[in-house]
Amino acid sequence: MGKAKITAIGCYTPPRVLTNDDLAKMVDTNDKWIVERTGIKERHIADADVATSDLAVEAAKAALLMRGIPASDVDAIIVCTVTPDMMFPATACLVQHRIGAVGAWGFDLIAACSGFVYGLTTAAHLVAGNTHKKVLVIGADTMSRIINYKDRGTCILFGDGAGAFLVEQCDDDENGFIDFLNEIDGSGGEFLKMPAGGSRMPASLETVQQEMHYVHQDGGQVFKFAVRKMHEICSTILDRNGYTADDIKLLIPHQANRRIIWATAEKLGIPLDRVVINIDKYGNTTAATIPLATRDAVESGRLKKGDLVLYAAVGAGFTVGANLWRWSF
Ligand code: UT7
Repeated sequence: MGKAKITAIGCYTPPRVLTNDDLAKMVDTNDKWIVERTGIKERHIADADVATSDLAVEAAKAALLMRGIPASDVDAIIVCTVTPDMMFPATACLVQHRIGAVGAWGFDLIAACSGFVYGLTTAAHLVAGNTHKKVLVIGADTMSRIINYKDRGTCILFGDGAGAFLVEQCDDDENGFIDFLNEIDGSGGEFLKMPAGGSRMPASLETVQQEMHYVHQDGGQVFKFAVRKMHEICSTILDRNGYTADDIKLLIPHQANRRIIWATAEKLGIPLDRVVINIDKYGNTTAATIPLATRDAVESGRLKKGDLVLYAAVGAGFTVGANLWRWSF
């Protein structure tokens, strides 16, 4: 088996910002409640003519620019998203065409907030199997398209954004991919979903009138599951690789709620100065939170070559995922 490393990151968030005060004019909420209960201050929202592939293309181009290679060098593109431009063709196909990745195949990966961790796991294996040299993993979501801005339980949480990692073969034994721990617990499927628009409940006048094309969430159930599972997967993956929380340079968790992140850090015994939290600026961008948080950590000098980084996410499904990497640049 070969080894995989991350060689470049690119991110994109649309320029328009929706603040808590803006939301307070739309639903019965306020900045104090949102900050205390979630940690979110603002989120970015795509303009009406911007779709997920547009965000993904910008992120992909930024990653390729950072690496200094043409798109034609990419062997595969994985777009992790729950808000594809349309059901088909896959957003990966739209991105492949737009960036000119003429040698790439690819697919969309639906795992909601765990999407990027699943995408990274998949890319690491494609590369480690020596069948692929360069795989682009993109987490991109335009959550504003499936949010009901009359539902204060969900509209305060989500934002739009995209991030891409380039995963490549690694000849350096020290750094790169170490391990993954991904799970599904489908018994939680009812608690977070967009009910209509698929083969179970195709789009109709009724599904629109009954607001079935929006995110429906039982926040309390998701919260409880996330707090339990985030800790469980992090401690298991550390344990089985002979590491303790002290060995981790940075925990980069999915950004769903600051209280979930705080609880995970506390249970693991990782001080908050070794946890990346940027939910205040972006909200929950679903598949994009982990690359956005990584980009912020790299840019602020918190993540350097050789550092042990732990990724963890829980999302709709329920999906659960953790990855351990030793940072490569
Ligand atoms: O990545 C996976 C995606 N989703 C998640 O991870 C979400 C996980 N869940 C959560 O983050 C939290 O459950 C929420 C932020 C969604 C809700 O926070 P909570 O602390 O669980 O609040 P709650 O639903 O228990 O509601 C507490 C109170 C209620 O009022 P009463 O019944 O006590 O009078 C709500 O009606 O807060 C009220 N409330 C609000 N008040 C002001 C709910 N939403 C709001 C709001 N503004 N936006």
